[in-house]
Amino acid sequence: MTEPGFLLSTRASYDAVAAAYAGRFHDELAAKPVERAMLGAFAELVPSAEPVADIGCGTGHVTARLRDLGLSAFGIDLSSQMVALARRQHPGLRFDEGSMTALDLPDRTLGGILAMYSIIHIPREHLPQVFAEFHRVLVPGGRALLVFQVGDAHERRTEAFGQSISLDCYWRSLEHVAESLGRAGFAEDARLLREPDEHEKLQRGFLLVRRPADVV
Ligand SMILES: C[S@@+](CC[C@H](N)C(=O)[O-])C[C@H]1O[C@@H](n2cnc3c(N)ncnc32)[C@H](O)[C@@H]1O
Repeated sequence: MTEPGFLLSTRASYDAVAAAYAGRFHDELAAKPVERAMLGAFAELVPSAEPVADIGCGTGHVTARLRDLGLSAFGIDLSSQMVALARRQHPGLRFDEGSMTALDLPDRTLGGILAMYSIIHIPREHLPQVFAEFHRVLVPGGRALLVFQVGDAHERRTEAFGQSISLDCYWRSLEHVAESLGRAGFAEDARLLREPDEHEKLQRGFLLVRRPADVV
C-alpha cells in the first residue's frame, strides 16, 4: 500500500536529524518536573500486567523512564534511524519500527500508550484514524497519555540541526484533542496546561484518558 506523503516526509526528516536529536534531548526529562509527575500518574493508573507502548518514542529516553517506573514498556517509531539509536542506547528495551496510523498490534493488548510530542506530526484529517488505533489496541481500563505543544497553527520546518528537512508540525488546543479523543470512545481522567519554560515558546498540553470498561 502506498504511504501518505506526510509519513514519508516525517520519517525522512527524523532519519536525517536522529543523531543530533539524541545528543540534544537524551536527558530532557531531568529538567521537566511536570512531565515526570504526569508520567508518574500515568504509570500508577496503567493496569499493571499489560505492556505499555511509547509511540513516537524517538531515541527511547522516555521509554526507559517508563521502564524505571515499573512498566513493561517498549517503543515504536516511524523513523528507522531513531529506532536504531534507541536500540543502541537502551539495549535492554524493545523498539519496533511502525506508524501510529496503523499499529501492528492485536486488539486489546496494551495497558497504556504514551504519545509524547508525536501526534504533532499528524494532520488534522488523520487524527481520528490514530485515535481509533489507540482505542483498538488498549484493553478496557487502559490509559493513554498524550503530550503536545499547544496552539492553533501549522508550521513547516525546513531546517533542523543544520540539516535540510521537510517536517510538518501541528499545534492544537487541549479542547480540540480532547474532543477528538472523546469521539474515538475515550473518557478523560485529567488534563493539564503547562506554561513554556525559558527554552520553549509554546504551552504544553497533557491529556490523560482511558478506554472505558465494556458495558455488558
Ligand atoms: C518530537 S519527537 C519526540 C520523541 C520522544 N517522544 C520524546 O519526547 O523525546 C517525535 C517522534 O515521533 C515520531 N513519529 C512521527 N510520526 C509518527 C508516526 N506516524 N508513527 C510513529 N512515530 C511517529 C518521529 O519519528 C519522532 O521520533
